[in-house]
Amino acid sequence: MKKLIRILICAALATGLVAVQQGFAEYDFGGGEITYKSTVFSHESHVGGMGFDCDTCHEGLFEMEGHALQGNPEFSMDAIYEGGFCGACHDGDTAFASDSDCTSCHVKDGGDIYYTEPVKAILFSHKAHGETGLECESCHTGLFGMEALAAQKGKDFTMAALYDGQYCGACHDGDTAFASDTRCATCHVGVKGYVRAHPSKGGDQHAAH
Ligand code: HEC
Ligand code: HEC
Ligand code: HEC
Ligand code: HEC
Ligand code: HEC
Ligand code: HEC
Repeated sequence: MKKLIRILICAALATGLVAVQQGFAEYDFGGGEITYKSTVFSHESHVGGMGFDCDTCHEGLFEMEGHALQGNPEFSMDAIYEGGFCGACHDGDTAFASDSDCTSCHVKDGGDIYYTEPVKAILFSHKAHGETGLECESCHTGLFGMEALAAQKGKDFTMAALYDGQYCGACHDGDTAFASDTRCATCHVGVKGYVRAHPSKGGDQHAAH
């Protein structure tokens, strides 16, 4: 029994030691791993792996504060493409370009998007489209914006535009994917579909009429 207790105490101490070591290891690399809305930045790979000094980034590029940029609208792909933030290096020169390899930085896609204007509701599923083998670049270099519902802010987000090969119609032409003048209900999940996906907004149902 005493022996068992001694073993247990040793095991507990060893676990504690590993945890402390991991703590120090993370500290060695600076700020650890930082997770934004859909991206991840790793101090371990940039400092430990690539050997960047702290002041490469913490002299103008980034605050030494976790998530200072979280939710800041200026922390966007457009800014990164223009050489700001991560784009200071991720320009295809110092490091892989920001207009490629989306999924190296983006650990999450854009999720399910429900359009509600002009009609409620159209479902666009990132998951379903990813499963067909499409890459992020097939939609996010010109065709669609970098923000949910950006398309519905345009006045011409209509069936006529789709039939004309714009927006979803770039693929839903009966060739790359089923045509936009067929299977209406596949895209149009309607008010019922919207309410099912947003149970807390059930009361919204009336607003649709
Ligand atoms: C390649 C760029 C880069 C390098 C090199 C770098 N950092 Fe960071 N660091 C960042 C980013 C990005 C953030 C998050 C800033 C934000 O969200 O506004 C950050 C945040 C931090 C934070 C805050 C973390 C938190 O969770 O509050 C600390 C502390 C930090 N860095 C320390 C360091 C130290 C120390 C070094 C050098 C050993 C270092 N960093 C090197 C990019 C870098
Ligand atoms: C000081 C230059 C610099 C900055 C700033 C920088 N990176 Fe990097 N990053 C690199 C280099 C160099 C590599 C190595 C890959 C390569 O050579 O293409 C890399 C690799 C990566 C990788 C792949 C390795 C890994 O960690 O999984 C990711 C993801 C990444 N960076 C994300 C980011 C994000 C997100 C930001 C902004 C918050 C950022 N980086 C800012 C230089 C930088
Ligand atoms: C078949 C087209 C398509 C593909 C492929 C695609 N997206 Fe999207 N994505 C969209 C549409 C449509 C929107 C909404 C933008 C709009 O309404 O203009 C969007 C929006 C987003 C958003 C914003 C979500 C928000 O809540 O603001 C992110 C992030 C995103 N996509 C990431 C990705 C990533 C990462 C990939 C690859 C893994 C990817 N997308 C692949 C069509 C696509
Ligand atoms: C070097 C890293 C990096 C690469 C490569 C990269 N992004 Fe981003 N992206 C970011 C960061 C950082 C943000 C702002 C923080 C966030 O939103 O997670 C961002 C924001 C976005 C947003 C805004 C919505 C949101 O989640 O905030 C979209 C959409 C997006 N990126 C799509 C893409 C697409 C598509 C590609 C490939 C063509 C790509 N990104 C490549 C780092 C990257
Ligand atoms: C880059 C090409 C491309 C674009 C752009 C695109 N799709 Fe698709 N979509 C596909 C492909 C490929 C499939 C699978 C093949 C098929 O079903 O014909 C598909 C399947 C679907 C499906 C059936 C799978 C599911 O989610 O249940 C729906 C619904 C759909 N798309 C809606 C949309 C909507 C809405 C838009 C615009 C916001 C859009 N798609 C934009 C290529 C695209
Ligand atoms: C590939 C997906 C897709 C298919 C298939 C589709 N739609 Fe649409 N529809 C959309 C999108 C996206 C919008 C604009 C966003 C919104 O209204 O929420 C839209 C908008 C509309 C509108 C309002 C705008 C306008 O053009 O007057 C009507 C009406 C409409 N669709 C009817 C139909 C009918 C009828 C069918 C079948 C013959 C159909 N749709 C098939 C995606 C689709």
